Amino acid sequence: KVGNGLKDFLHIDDFDKDTIFKILDRAIEVKTLLKSGDRTFRPFEGRTMSMIFAKPSMRTRVSFETGFSLLGGHAIYLGPDDIQMDKREETRDVARVLSRYNDIILARVFSHQDILDLAKYATVPVINGLTDYNHPCQIMADALTMIEHVGRFEGTKVVYVGDGNNIVHSWLLMAAVIPFHFVCACPKGFEPDAKTVEKARKAGISKIEITNDPKEAVKGADVVYSDVWASMGQKEEAAYRRQVFKEFQVDQSLMDAAGSKAFFMHCLPAERGVEVTEQVVEAPYSIVFPQAENRMHAQNAIMLHVLGK
Ligand code: CP
Ligand code: NVA
Repeated sequence: KVGNGLKDFLHIDDFDKDTIFKILDRAIEVKTLLKSGDRTFRPFEGRTMSMIFAKPSMRTRVSFETGFSLLGGHAIYLGPDDIQMDKREETRDVARVLSRYNDIILARVFSHQDILDLAKYATVPVINGLTDYNHPCQIMADALTMIEHVGRFEGTKVVYVGDGNNIVHSWLLMAAVIPFHFVCACPKGFEPDAKTVEKARKAGISKIEITNDPKEAVKGADVVYSDVWASMGQKEEAAYRRQVFKEFQVDQSLMDAAGSKAFFMHCLPAERGVEVTEQVVEAPYSIVFPQAENRMHAQNAIMLHVLGK
């Protein structure tokens, strides 16, 4: 792919700071155009994208499919029973066949190795729509949402409260590129991947803290961020995790500890009464729905970028 101007979108730190901000600026530009009702910008006319989903999805599926078609393209949804990557067909064969039909391959998979293999064998750009390891499109949308609501992204304080999961890994990889203060408050034993923490710290760009004390962590936050305690693939651990994570629920008293400037964000889906209370999700400081909307706008800019448009 290198040489023909096409790129994958697999991890945020595959890109430099200028490129990340260029994508975010483009997202705002195309968002403004689409929100004005203008439907004349059709850079994906005659282009197709296959979307492989080995896991469930609402936002990722609908925002990619809608965004690609609003900009002139045609997207094909392939659910867990369709391709059955690694079961019915080897990943490297899927990559090489789909590359002959489509201009982009979007995939949501379990093993991160699957997305790396897809990218290795595909001759068209591969976009990561979440793996067990990371979720880069989500964190691009989150940064966009912070620019709109906090007023900036660089230099802010983001405090994630909960499991050290795929969302946290993408925050850490963002922190390796853009300077901000990232704190992950999680129960002992549920810290993010040590190598990823080390990589983000070694980059020397951002202040990074991993702690087990949510009350202390949230002080002065611009954003308090939450995600489910049991991710897709871990749902059988949900009951056990509810016990272990009890002190990590984002409720009004935690938001009070954060201070009056703090917004609440959540990648959704949210389990009200588990990782976050109903009151917090529905509060005026909660920006979870603009955040969800921005999935589409951030991803439109990502697709324009990988296709060199
Ligand atoms: N936040 C997110 O990726 O949502 P879906 O799982 O619904 O795509
Ligand atoms: N950590 C969650 C994110 C869902 C968007 C999961 O992987 O299920």
